[in-house]
Amino acid sequence: MAGLVGRDREGNYAKNMNVPFVDLSEQYHAIKDTIEPSLRAVFEKGDFILGAEQQAFERQFAEFCATRYAVGVNSGTDALYMALGALEIGPGDEVILPTFTFIATALCISYTGATPVFCEVEGETYNIDPRKLEKVVTKRTKAIIPVHLYGQAADMDAINAIAKKRKIAVVEDACQAHGATYKGKRAGALGEIGCFSFYPTKSLGAFGDAGMVVTDNKEIFEKIGMLRDYGRKGRYEHKIKGFNSRMDTVQAVILSAKLKYLDEWNRMRGAHAAYYNRLLKDVPGIQTPVTKEGRTHVFQTYAVRVADRDRVLEGMKAKGIGVLIHYPIPLHLQEAYADAGGKPGDFPVAEQVANEVLSLPMFPHMNKGQIEYVCASLKELVEPSLREA
Ligand SMILES: Cc1ncc(COP(=O)(O)O)c(C=O)c1O
Repeated sequence: MAGLVGRDREGNYAKNMNVPFVDLSEQYHAIKDTIEPSLRAVFEKGDFILGAEQQAFERQFAEFCATRYAVGVNSGTDALYMALGALEIGPGDEVILPTFTFIATALCISYTGATPVFCEVEGETYNIDPRKLEKVVTKRTKAIIPVHLYGQAADMDAINAIAKKRKIAVVEDACQAHGATYKGKRAGALGEIGCFSFYPTKSLGAFGDAGMVVTDNKEIFEKIGMLRDYGRKGRYEHKIKGFNSRMDTVQAVILSAKLKYLDEWNRMRGAHAAYYNRLLKDVPGIQTPVTKEGRTHVFQTYAVRVADRDRVLEGMKAKGIGVLIHYPIPLHLQEAYADAGGKPGDFPVAEQVANEVLSLPMFPHMNKGQIEYVCASLKELVEPSLREA
């Protein structure tokens, strides 16, 4: 036991050790020697926007997802917005999304002028529930955005079957699922268009904002290529009313270096999740994550469910542990979407999950001692009998 971080010489857990929610310093050290000369070369060339390295990273990321095309943009939110733009979704249209997700999934719909239509989630994966999906499809539905929440793909066969039958596009919000697989295919390659965020804390994170759209559809690829760059075809030839949402070459250099490690880092996350599961799975009052058959979970987020969550959250913080809630308020109850008329009780599964989830520290380079300390602390807070007198 000696040498395990988080325990003293006798093997007892340290009373108060700090475990950050994420610590990406080791990731930086892994790529430091690769990126420094590459960044210097970009600075020398001055090729800052959509440069050669940016285009190279698009090809690498398309290959990683096994899609034909990839377009670098400046955030996950813009990736989603432009995906809907390429499908010509606008006022009068409806787009279905799970109510339990980050608000950007809904905002991108609102930006187009279309109406976001919230849907219930599954109690096990917290992803959109295909059994509830068909009930919210109308004649106006133009797209469904399944979110691969926490790093596990949604039930894509069932979703794609409904979409195909009703002639609706499927735009994946894969912003939390870089490298996750569903029946052997990577997230992003499971619908018509896949959207990624490279926000710094994502499992593939830039040193700033960045995002990517992937697709096999040439027409959509070309349209998004124009949309992100003022709608232009030639230098001053503008086919459509586009935006300025391009990926910086500097971010592409960093992302390209990190991409080489992504599978390994995902495996490390998977090993930490397995260890968390082992230590927590039989503890009464704690529900560990469920990974469905045929899918690999990349654990962008490792979230447990506990009753009396807010007390547990405060207790964990007091013990020096970085914990967060993803997400405390489902979108149908957010003030920003009050105009949609949502009320408590509309989506009971999502509401219960939002009251119970607690995200524990998760990053590739965390160590076993940190996980043991987190689990011991959590058990102590959840099981009063384990608390010291
Ligand atoms: C599910 C989901 N959708 C969309 C986004 C938006 O991505 P970004 O922050 O890069 O705009 C995020 C990330 O924050 C996310 O987690």
